[in-house]
Amino acid sequence: MGMKGSIVLFGPPGAGKGTQAAAIVDITGKPQISTGDMLREAVSSGSSLGMEAQSYMESGNLVPDEVIIGLIEERIKEPDATKGVLFDGFPRTIPQAEALSEITDVCAVISIEVPDENIVERIVGRRMDPETGEIFHISFKPPPSEISERLIQRKDDTEETVRQRLAAYHNQTKPLGEWYAERELLIPVDGSGTIEEVGEAVSSAVRSL
Ligand code: AP5
Repeated sequence: MGMKGSIVLFGPPGAGKGTQAAAIVDITGKPQISTGDMLREAVSSGSSLGMEAQSYMESGNLVPDEVIIGLIEERIKEPDATKGVLFDGFPRTIPQAEALSEITDVCAVISIEVPDENIVERIVGRRMDPETGEIFHISFKPPPSEISERLIQRKDDTEETVRQRLAAYHNQTKPLGEWYAERELLIPVDGSGTIEEVGEAVSSAVRSL
């Protein structure tokens, strides 16, 4: 398959995409582009894009394709993106993947597979360090006590919103996995183990490209 082009990190909400992205960046040297992080920055800066995206995100629905595609078209023009990037949380619909195929080559789609019953617990227990961006979990990756005061919880990380995010995943995003499988780009990885086990599986999938 080869490592030329971009890699897509694919999977349901809370699968561990953000957690595993750092290792892929280390191995490949490709920069991480997370549409979720870009949208959260837009929301906190109060830009018009952020204001448009906010209500979709807080209700657990996907932001419209044209907004996301516009965001990616701009980001991909940056000088660090010329040799391919690691997409995290993008594309999430077939129209987004079609638009992406017009602007860059995708060499592999790493699909972190986690059953729905594990997702809610992972998401509700997630905490983020606003200073470093590091992702923790109250049970599965407990933060050091000296930083626990400053950790934040995402507004969309409630049990109710997770259910809507999972519904959006099954209706709009999961069919994209089949779309990539038909193109022989999908590499399924078992995401149900520990963070370390999933990390090893993801790293070996990337090294074998
Ligand atoms: P986004 O930020 O992309 O959220 P998401 O896909 O729902 O993914 P998450 O960030 O929730 O999960 P993750 O897979 O990165 O898991 P993590 O590593 O943190 O999107 C947010 C919103 O923005 C969307 O709902 C939508 O509105 C909008 N949006 C974004 N992109 C869009 C697009 N392309 N199109 C349209 N709309 C878009 O792990 C989760 C937790 O589990 C952590 O606490 C972690 O420590 C823990 N954990 C990780 N791995 C394990 C493990 N193996 N075992 C136990 N715990 C684990």
